[in-house]
Amino acid sequence: MTTSWESPSNIALIKYWGKRDTQLPSNPSISFTLSKCKTTTEVHFSEGTGVNITLDGTDKPEFIPKIEGFLERIMHRHPWLSSYNLQIKTRNSFPHSSGIASSASGMSALSLCIVEFAQKIDFKFDALNFYQEASILSRLGSGSASRSIYGGLVVWGGTPTLENANDEYAIEYPHIIDPIFKNYCDVVLLVEVGEKSVSSTAGHALMENHPFRSQRFSQAHQHLSEIQKILKTGDIENFIRLTELEALTLHGLMMSSSPSYILMKPNTLKIIEEIREFRRESKLPLSFTLDAGANVHVLFPAAVKEKGMAFIKNTLIQYCKENRFIADHVGSGPKRLTNFEK
Ligand code: PMV
Repeated sequence: MTTSWESPSNIALIKYWGKRDTQLPSNPSISFTLSKCKTTTEVHFSEGTGVNITLDGTDKPEFIPKIEGFLERIMHRHPWLSSYNLQIKTRNSFPHSSGIASSASGMSALSLCIVEFAQKIDFKFDALNFYQEASILSRLGSGSASRSIYGGLVVWGGTPTLENANDEYAIEYPHIIDPIFKNYCDVVLLVEVGEKSVSSTAGHALMENHPFRSQRFSQAHQHLSEIQKILKTGDIENFIRLTELEALTLHGLMMSSSPSYILMKPNTLKIIEEIREFRRESKLPLSFTLDAGANVHVLFPAAVKEKGMAFIKNTLIQYCKENRFIADHVGSGPKRLTNFEK
């Protein structure tokens, strides 16, 4: 039996950075789910054991240990997996070496395939519903993947100002938001492609003894509270202030870890300066955010798309590796596929 899902990546506005126990976050986060940056996965389940995996039709034995580790981590929730062989065919809409993390889209697509199959064989899982279970499994694969299960704005991690938010699984942002945030643009500028010098796993671990640990975790709760007012009222000025502060705080935490490290590159900073100067001069609401790498996500409302894209193509493109960028926007979340399009 075969199941197939396509699942998007996401970009955090308030960043998850630091974890405990089994991939539980040290602080709450909220993200935009993307649309074009996605992974499509098909899993063929048959009786037996073991895993095979292909990426774009090519065997990838080097991915097997990671997938097996993930399956072991979810086995306590899905013991049936121990008597199945999984043939996984996967492909990303973005190039593998683009520096865009495929873990959120990849782990969420695989988790959705597994939960759908569990449902088909009548396995009664613990969570309240299909998507909740898929978010729990995704989280066990890669923390931020838990948020890729839903479209739009998604929250992961318990926080006093959001009743149902919790550490186990992500939820769709439950309150009314200003329409400006429904189709926000995110253009990913590829500054650096290939492996990062310090992985997210290592970065999370460095938060354990970080000198600013407790201040950071309480700041994230405070920011989650602030962003709710911003999302409701469409307060772009404060949206920009808060999300840029979050991005630079994330990298500030890296720089003040022990050992310290820097993932931004000279062109990351050049882009940030250009964006801030453009915003001052044009008064247009273009801003940036960063994930744990050198690439820059340029954020702007769909209403200024034409001018935003022109600025990127005329000014920012020179700082991109081989002039590469991906023009994406907020998307509606994963999709079940009936046919895995080759
Ligand atoms: O999901 P991980 O372990 O790759 O960590 C992701 C961390 C950030 O991308 C930097 C922030 C986030 O909330 O997605």
